[in-house]
Formats: sequence, structure tokens, C-alpha cells
Amino acid sequence: MGSGPRAAVVGSANVDLVVRCERLPRPGETVLGGDVARRAGGKGANQAAAAARLGARTTLVASFGEDEAGDWLAGQVVQRGVDLAPVARSTRPTGTAFIAVDDDGENQIVVAAGANLDLDASGVDLDGYDVVLAQLEVPDAVVADVAARTGRLVLNVAPSRALDADLLARCAVVIANEGEAAALDLAALAHCVVTLGARGAVHYRFGVEVARAAAPVVRAVDAVGAGDVFCAAYAIRYALGEADDRALAYASVAGALATLAPGAQGALPTDEEVRSWLEPDS
Ligand code: RIB
Repeated sequence: MGSGPRAAVVGSANVDLVVRCERLPRPGETVLGGDVARRAGGKGANQAAAAARLGARTTLVASFGEDEAGDWLAGQVVQRGVDLAPVARSTRPTGTAFIAVDDDGENQIVVAAGANLDLDASGVDLDGYDVVLAQLEVPDAVVADVAARTGRLVLNVAPSRALDADLLARCAVVIANEGEAAALDLAALAHCVVTLGARGAVHYRFGVEVARAAAPVVRAVDAVGAGDVFCAAYAIRYALGEADDRALAYASVAGALATLAPGAQGALPTDEEVRSWLEPDS
């Protein structure tokens, strides 16, 4: 485990079943793909693994099933240097994501949330963490409970759904992609970071742009989980008290580097790797 800031990630853990195909199917269409790969995933587990890789002392608060998939996935998370909070296992199947990735690196994902729906984080002490990171693959009640218990919540509003305005207002930072941001009232948010994929990211304060970062040009292989790495990187820089523009630039590089290998956790960058892109001559 790293010696950096303390991060708690409250969120999902999924087994990702991934198939590559030449192009994604249209509704009602069948396409043929390659061999299926089983990978560790889930927005919570991805963000926790990315935070640990970047040097944060990271705890994942997630619900795994009592099945073989839950054992395997929990083991994968621990192998990546993440502590698991003591949360009861669920009798539902471990969360599973069905992912198709095409030759351009575009993807489609359907998540069977399973055990994630039983997550109860209320018994986990969130005091003492420099940042708490959460997403929306767990029940609203979990997110509301976490938002009520910490003033240091970085909330990734993915996958998008309508949220209580008071809950959003309690977040230290809200992170959304362009589609998710369309459902938000940016003017009501003190800090909202909108990711733009290969075009980088923008930071808004009450709807006014205060920082913008370009993403480095890379040869992307697979963008699954790149947004999760961005969120983890941004949350760590927030925890360290870094200036908005520098945090945004750091997270944009981390997110881009995450696309360089297959799998949501296949190309998690280290702090040194991100810095070498930000300061190539140092
Ligand atoms: O953000 C990528 C993740 O979304 C995948 O790992 C999948 O499990 C879904 O949760």
C-alpha cells in the first residue's frame, strides 16, 4: 500500500466479461466477436485500484457475492494493493458487466448489478480519509448516506440518473462525462469537472469555466475504465489540495494512459508515469 493520501472508495465491484468485435451491434442485431475475457471491473473497484496504483492508501467499500466470482474479484482487488472494508457478502450473484469493445476502442456495457444492490456502507467509519470517492452503480441510499457523513466526497455521477439537488450540493466535487453533465444543473454546483474523452476535461465553478486541460494524444486500445482512472487521479490531487488546473491536467493524463491496454484495470498508470508526461524534461 502507498504512503500517499488516504482514500475511501464506496462503490461497485463487477466481473467484466469482455468480447472484442469489429463493430458494435445495432439494436436487434447480432455480431460475431472474439474469445470472451474475464477481468476485474466495476467503477468502484476500478477507481480503488487506480488510486492505489497512483500511491494512495486506499480502502474499497463494496459488496461481493458469496459465489466463486466474489472470491476471485475480492482477491483481484487485494492484489492491486487495496484494503477491503469489512462489509457483509451478499446472497445475490457478484456484479457482472457484459462489455463489447470494437476495433476503434468504442464500447457498450450492460451491468447486472447483483450484489452491488446490497451494499450497506453505514457501518464503515469514513472519518480520517482525505477523500471519499463514490459512483452510481450502488443504491441511492448508499450515496446519500455517504454524502451526509463526509464533506470530502468526490462523486462520479456514472451511470447517469436523476439525483437529489441537496445531495449534489453536498459533494466537494462532482465528476461527469458530457452525457452525464447534460442532466446536471452546473450553475448549482460549486465544483463540477466534465470529462471530454480524448479532448480532455473542463472544471466549472457554479457553471463558469475555471480550468481546462487537454488530454495527451495516445494510441487508445480500450477506453473501458479510463473515466474511472481519471476520477481516482482527480480525487487524489483534490485530497492533496492541488490547484484546480493542475489537478485537471494530472487526471487528464492519467485517464489517457489508462487506454493503452485492454481491460478496465489493464493499464493503470503510476504517479511517476503521469508526471513524466506532465514534466517530460524533469
Ligand atoms: O467504468 C467501467 C466499468 O463500468 C466496467 O469495469 C464495468 O464493470 C462497469 O461498471
